[in-house]
Amino acid sequence: MQLPEAQLAALEAASATEEKTIAQLAAETDERPATLTGAAFDLADHGLLAITERDEETLALTEEGETYHDEGLPELRLYRAAREAGATDDPVGMGEVIGASGLDGRTVDIALSNFARKGYGRIDSGKLFAEPDVDPEGDRETAALAAVATGDASEIDASVLDRLVERGLVARSQATERAVTLTDDGITALMEGVEVADSVGRLTPEMLTSGEWRDVEFREYNVEADADRTNGGRVHVLRETAERVKDVLVGMGFEEMDGPHADAEFWINDALFMPQDHPARTHWDQFALAEPAEIDDLPDELVERVREAHLEGVGEDGEGYHSPWTEEVARGMDLRGHTTSLSMRYLSGEAVGELSPPERCFSVEKVYRNDTLDATHLLEFFQIEGWVMAEDLSVRDLMGTFTEFYERFGITDIEFKPHYNPYTEPSFELFGTHPVTGELIEIGNSGLFRDEVLRPLGVECDVMAWGLALERLAMLTIGAEDIRDLHGTLVDIDFLRNAEVTY
Ligand code: PHE
Repeated sequence: MQLPEAQLAALEAASATEEKTIAQLAAETDERPATLTGAAFDLADHGLLAITERDEETLALTEEGETYHDEGLPELRLYRAAREAGATDDPVGMGEVIGASGLDGRTVDIALSNFARKGYGRIDSGKLFAEPDVDPEGDRETAALAAVATGDASEIDASVLDRLVERGLVARSQATERAVTLTDDGITALMEGVEVADSVGRLTPEMLTSGEWRDVEFREYNVEADADRTNGGRVHVLRETAERVKDVLVGMGFEEMDGPHADAEFWINDALFMPQDHPARTHWDQFALAEPAEIDDLPDELVERVREAHLEGVGEDGEGYHSPWTEEVARGMDLRGHTTSLSMRYLSGEAVGELSPPERCFSVEKVYRNDTLDATHLLEFFQIEGWVMAEDLSVRDLMGTFTEFYERFGITDIEFKPHYNPYTEPSFELFGTHPVTGELIEIGNSGLFRDEVLRPLGVECDVMAWGLALERLAMLTIGAEDIRDLHGTLVDIDFLRNAEVTY
């Protein structure tokens, strides 16, 4: 009998009395495990080998798990520092204990939450008290980390292990382990003698030019053999969602707007009838530019009409804010905190000239806010801005548009809550239910622009408008629970690799 080299190696290494795993075969031959797996399947097809498969769970410390295995779990470092500082008798200031523990950054939060969870002590008005009868040597998670590190996880309590997986300190993975034994036919074949066949796995240019390809025997493909997983590039899920949003809105008859990321306060705030002493204008919310600090030109007549709206109001009963308004403030440059600056540029005619109703525009663009980072806030995010300009619009038109838009993404349970915006009346916030946590999350803000906004822009009819958060839509459609899994430095690569944008 003739067999390809790898198959012969596998056959010779296999035993009739003892199961050998692919890893064992690899250790005994010169072949790679993937090659041997393929060879074993081919031999099994010919009845020469029997293959048994077992699903194996393997456990490994993550990088963070390794660190804590070496340095101690943060909560234990905190507990030990607390004891040393005498916090078992009298509570000690948190700053002092944290300083002495050597913990910093994220590990402080980790230490504090697990310290409390494990009942190692209490934190009360900035002071930390340590339970005196805790034995830090008896920490079960520490013992479990050590067990995983040495590869012997059999004694670990399932709930402790689950917790370590949840904490991201231990990673579980599934693998199929295959083992082979020689069959009777295999033994017979070996006894009768097997030679290496000249079979070829790869066609080379040399074989083509020499004509050798005519005489060789080609190995068959085995499409069932395990193959290494390669992770190629893919379009980011947020980008995919953004493209889908654009398709949907274009399908609904909207045209795309475009404009500057850094813009004058005039377009970001003043044109929107936001008083210059409005709290949202303080630079805690907005990023101000030092260079250039001012916009070059603003349309004079429009500036004048906006100034008047702020000071005196609009129409016969106009009141205005009577608060200070200066063009100097309006010229100041910021990173836009919303893309409503684009809506202002378009509605005023500044972007593409005068518009006449009906007209619909949108953008899916980045905005920048000096927020505190958390699971639902980043310093920058994508806003789905949009507006419809038409005669006689009402709240029903607004709700109908959202219902239709979100339905395209399979979201049929949006909720509306009355809201306040300085530039729209009435105004509504939109909420959606998170598919995993069941929580109601805010997904957008909307309303009908006030006369004080529209008349200075020269718009005579109604305009309904909105700003929706692209990341929140992505959270609802792909089930991400933390916005930081989607972008930023903490992204979860596995999540991004596997998330499917479905609609
Ligand atoms: N600019 C608002 C925001 O960022 C959204 C909005 C736009 C609301 C237009 C009403 C009208 O939250």
